[in-house]
Amino acid sequence: MKTNPLIHQVLLALASTGLSLAQAPSAPPPHGPQQHSNQQHPAMRQRPSHRPMAPKPGPASPSDPLPGLTADLLMAFSDGFEEFTNAEDAEGGLGPIFNESSCVTCHLQGGVGGASTITVTRFGRVNKGVFDSLDSLGGSLLQALSIDPAAREFVPREANIVSRRQTTPLFGLGLVEAIPEATILAGVRSGKPDGVKGKAHMVTDVVSGQIMVGRFGWKAQQATLLAFSADAYVNEMGVTNRFFPTENAPNGKADVLAAFDEVADPEDTTDPETGKADIDHSADFMRFLAPLRPQPMSASATAGKTVFQSTGCAVCHTPRMFTGSSEIGALNQKAVDLYSDLLLNDMCILADGIVQGDAGPRDFKTPPLWGIRVSAPYLHDGRAPTLDAAIRAHDGEGSASKIRYTKLSLMQRQQLLDFMNTL
Ligand code: HEC
Ligand code: HEC
Repeated sequence: MKTNPLIHQVLLALASTGLSLAQAPSAPPPHGPQQHSNQQHPAMRQRPSHRPMAPKPGPASPSDPLPGLTADLLMAFSDGFEEFTNAEDAEGGLGPIFNESSCVTCHLQGGVGGASTITVTRFGRVNKGVFDSLDSLGGSLLQALSIDPAAREFVPREANIVSRRQTTPLFGLGLVEAIPEATILAGVRSGKPDGVKGKAHMVTDVVSGQIMVGRFGWKAQQATLLAFSADAYVNEMGVTNRFFPTENAPNGKADVLAAFDEVADPEDTTDPETGKADIDHSADFMRFLAPLRPQPMSASATAGKTVFQSTGCAVCHTPRMFTGSSEIGALNQKAVDLYSDLLLNDMCILADGIVQGDAGPRDFKTPPLWGIRVSAPYLHDGRAPTLDAAIRAHDGEGSASKIRYTKLSLMQRQQLLDFMNTL
């Protein structure tokens, strides 16, 4: 990927002034919610016209880098931004089967890197209580699109479990990656109220080959951003890379794959000049992407923060963790206000039936709640249109807290919701 020098200039200029790129004037997004209206940002109207324009009037507002990045890392962020928003095509390795042609198509609510209402489909088969991800038939992730209609993948007849999974936001994930494993594991050991257990999902990281604590994805199925990036390139876009050099065959059919797979693998190659491939650039973007800034707290929201604690929400939705020491100043010993313990919980009737690694059919990672104000709808399959519905759906390890929520006074519930809408 070539880099647009204008983006670098804009980012560097903004970094030196401390201004937010999200507030720079840009064309209104053609679809999706508009987070940066004139009303929310009076600064936009007052800004003189010689301010630099936002880099690319794209489908979503650009997003802020972490504060305090060096010039080199800002450059890595902006290269990553470009790659993350770049649409792949068949000549560049897209497909033969895929879900969308760019990361940003799915990740855009509240800015580039956000969530969206787009869901992907997982399928599998349960026989006598044993889950089969139907690998030989193209499972468990469906690639719903193809570069040629004859290569289409479908949910096979053999599947008796089909579940949708909603796109999650990526804001602040570099900070999440920088939380020491010991901090997450300490959450497992500490005795918890309400019968909450919480377990760490130990996964093999495809990048290092090491067994690590999984922290990304609805089932905490990936431990590092580079691993998730590589996984998304091959599984969402059909772009093979150094960690996943093999294409997904449509419903497992090697002959169909052979007929339509024309680009040599791995399709995402490392640029000898930079030492980076597309998967690295997108990982850089996510690593240096700032969390959304919380909104100012009203009196009601401040009261709601207390209700959040007293209702037991914080037992799993841990308000704050800290990053460990890092050579990167912007990631070094920082507070991470994510509202998650990054552990798996048995959520009972919320089960999706899908097993991934050691995450069982009823297990979900406590999703971080930062940025929740722009990521509706909620829960792994997007079934909950409102925060209230999402909370009422909690089951299993979340039951005690849910029941306490339903017994709150109307005013306390409103306070709690007001609080969550500041995150
Ligand atoms: C078709 C829509 C789609 C596309 C395209 C897509 N994603 Fe995602 N993304 C999702 C969904 C759905 C999830 C949740 C998946 C899960 O946990 O099973 C997700 C989750 C993630 C996560 C985990 C975040 C967390 O909350 O822990 C990362 C990281 C990520 N995507 C990165 C990328 C990158 C990088 C690209 C481009 C290479 C990309 N995604 C392309 C839909 C998409
Ligand atoms: C046992 C741990 C646990 C407790 C206690 C808990 N949650 Fe959750 N929460 C989860 C898990 C796991 C999910 C994801 C479930 C799913 O997607 O099916 C979730 C999902 C959510 C979501 C939707 C997030 C999204 O991105 O879609 C919200 C909002 C939420 N919880 C708020 C609360 C509030 C408020 C409380 C207290 C009344 C609470 N939770 C108590 C574990 C917990």
